[in-house]
Amino acid sequence: MAEGVCEFCRGTGWRLKEQNSIVVAERCSCVRSREKVTLVQQARIPRRYEDCTFDNFLLPMCTDSQRVAKQIVDCFVRSYPAVATTGFLLMGPPGSGKTHLAVAAIKFLIQEKKVGCLFYDFRELLKMLQSSYSKDAEFSEMSVLHPVLRTEVLLLDELGAKKMTPWLEDILSYILNYRYNEKLSTFITTNWMDEELLDTSRASNHAKEETLDVRIGERLRSRLYEMCETIQIHPSSLDYRKILHARNKTRNLAGL
Ligand SMILES: Nc1ncnc2c1ncn2[C@@H]1O[C@H](COP(=O)(O)OP(=O)(O)OP(=O)(O)O)[C@@H](O)[C@H]1O
Ligand SMILES: [Mg+2]
Ligand SMILES: [Zn+2]
Repeated sequence: MAEGVCEFCRGTGWRLKEQNSIVVAERCSCVRSREKVTLVQQARIPRRYEDCTFDNFLLPMCTDSQRVAKQIVDCFVRSYPAVATTGFLLMGPPGSGKTHLAVAAIKFLIQEKKVGCLFYDFRELLKMLQSSYSKDAEFSEMSVLHPVLRTEVLLLDELGAKKMTPWLEDILSYILNYRYNEKLSTFITTNWMDEELLDTSRASNHAKEETLDVRIGERLRSRLYEMCETIQIHPSSLDYRKILHARNKTRNLAGL
């Protein structure tokens, strides 16, 4: 048999079995795993994040707000599609695990529920759209936009990482409104906080002057209230990258 061809169904996707003296055909399990592999590939999860799961999101160094964030996201995807809002908006400081959790969410949906998902870094999406406008572009604006508009779940990472322009506000409103009207889920991560969270954290010196509504505009922020459950990771949460860096340093020193 050719390499890679399933030994049970010989690549047909069907297996025959006897049931009450009748031979019946049933879908071979390799079809499901092939579909999952395709869904994982189509999701465009960056390699850095491809191993992120809920299980390897560790809690000992986390603040309560990170624990709650994990619980809400985990619960959201377990209940999906029976969920109250169409998505969630994870806001919090750098390195607090927002992308990790959001990727764990789409991976869960792919693996457990065979939901089509798509990861897009906000800046990369803009770059792709902008380059589609150039004269000798290899792809059209619609070929970039179509999957972003239509995928069942879109993960838009790092919203607000670029300053808004009128064009940007238009295109982003178009994407979000379209998905909202079609009742498609959108998961968003951002470093920018809401005013009230900054107010409570000012005492801890982690304040950033600009808030999410200033960064992306009040209209868009307001739309997101409707579309997404806001999950706030407290600004005092530790940067996990710093923790990993410190651990590696200790390990290197121990090896001297
Ligand atoms: N609780 C955790 N347990 C294990 N690994 C974690 C945890 N939190 C974060 N990490 C890891 O730390 C790194 C940084 O996390 P992540 O990229 O998710 O942060 P972020 O909040 O999205 O940061 P940024 O705002 O800079 O995008 C990743 O490699 C991630 O897998
Ligand atoms: Mg991130
Ligand atoms: Zn098979």
